[in-house]
Amino acid sequence: MNAPAATPLSASRSPALRGRVRVPGDKSISHRALIISAMTVGETRIDGLLEGEDVINTAKAMRALGAQVERTGAGSWRVHGVGVGGFAEPSAPLDFGNSGTGCRLVIGAVAGCPIVAGFDGDASLRSRPMQRVLDPLLRIGARVLEIAEHGRLPLRLQGALDPLPIEYRPPAASAQLKSAVLLAGLAAPGETTVVENEATRDHTEKLLAHFGAELTVTPEGQHGRRITLKGRPELKPQPVVVPADPSSAAFPMVAALVVPGSELILEAVMTNPLRTGLFKTLIEMGADIETLSVRNDGEEVAELRVRASSLRGVEVPPERAPAMIDEYLILAVAASFATGTTRMRGLKELRVKESDRLEATAAMLRANGVEVEIIDDDLIVHGTGRVKGGGVVATHMDHRIAMSALVMGLASDTPVGVDDTAFIATSFPGFVEMMQGLGAEIG
Ligand code: S3P
Repeated sequence: MNAPAATPLSASRSPALRGRVRVPGDKSISHRALIISAMTVGETRIDGLLEGEDVINTAKAMRALGAQVERTGAGSWRVHGVGVGGFAEPSAPLDFGNSGTGCRLVIGAVAGCPIVAGFDGDASLRSRPMQRVLDPLLRIGARVLEIAEHGRLPLRLQGALDPLPIEYRPPAASAQLKSAVLLAGLAAPGETTVVENEATRDHTEKLLAHFGAELTVTPEGQHGRRITLKGRPELKPQPVVVPADPSSAAFPMVAALVVPGSELILEAVMTNPLRTGLFKTLIEMGADIETLSVRNDGEEVAELRVRASSLRGVEVPPERAPAMIDEYLILAVAASFATGTTRMRGLKELRVKESDRLEATAAMLRANGVEVEIIDDDLIVHGTGRVKGGGVVATHMDHRIAMSALVMGLASDTPVGVDDTAFIATSFPGFVEMMQGLGAEIG
């Protein structure tokens, strides 16, 4: 895949941000809706699908595996599935671009089918660990035919000829690992069980149940869950409406909190408690975030009003990490504008995201005059209520670094530059235009 051309941008101190916006569809649910509907028998309609590059690559992978996937309008897609275990052998390696989620979930789905498939991605994805997702899939019966050094992409996988049900305890709190095993387990007879010490986002479980799979979920220990899936279900098509992505809503939300005088309404934001650690933390910091209305469409969805607020530093406990794993970058921006110290504990998993986000967050803050420390796996931000700015932030092919740095520039004393904003399109197409529409000075 060709790397997109670098698009540098800079953000400057902006007037109050005002308006009502709906951020794009949830990335996690969009990937899963495509993958699981491709494993049904019949046709599923998906509305509100995120049409970012990551999800489009998953749609292409489903097509290459034999499903019919068709865009019928903005955010509206139809998927004609091939049934559990029915994927066809793709003629070329599947290219997931920048997306760890797309790649790891499809590795799981393919591992339960008797086919050979190649998996690849861009330079960022090629640097991310794949071995830990392969380990349980080998127990299910898949075989790795080829893999790059250190368990990285590109790789070629022979799916299980005779998949076995397993009980699996992920070595890290990762919804991707859990989901890969559950998707592979669909093709195995008997019961596949995943035991999580810390509960992670449960969209795979919810969507599998929505499409007719039998699952039981029970609490495990203080923060965990035991998920048992009955194998070889016939998954039946069901309509899916994808709610707005809380991980994307995080950027205009923090922008409105730190730009004085701002007031924003965020529409239809998913507020699944396994995704809203950031909202909770911001409220603890003193953020004025009000829930105006709530409904439940399979996932809880809320309309939120956010007003500029004076924030103060807080301690973020490690057990909250799974519910806000993608939000530490933007939380670090909020913490920079807060007064006092914010200590975010237990961020080991941040080192294996689209970039090493622990180091990249510290570098982003330092480049803009914020005092920051990394001690073991904790990130410590010493906020003074204002940010000098003036730095140029290296994106490292990471969409969330680019968006966080731009938000920082909207309230810092001098502008903040970003070396490349092209990767924003992986998760939040239209981000810059949406922010400009609210009054943000980005250009
Ligand atoms: C995701 C899980 C998280 C998250 C990623 C999306 C998912 O990764 O960082 O952006 O949709 O399952 P891990 O499961 O590796 O923590």
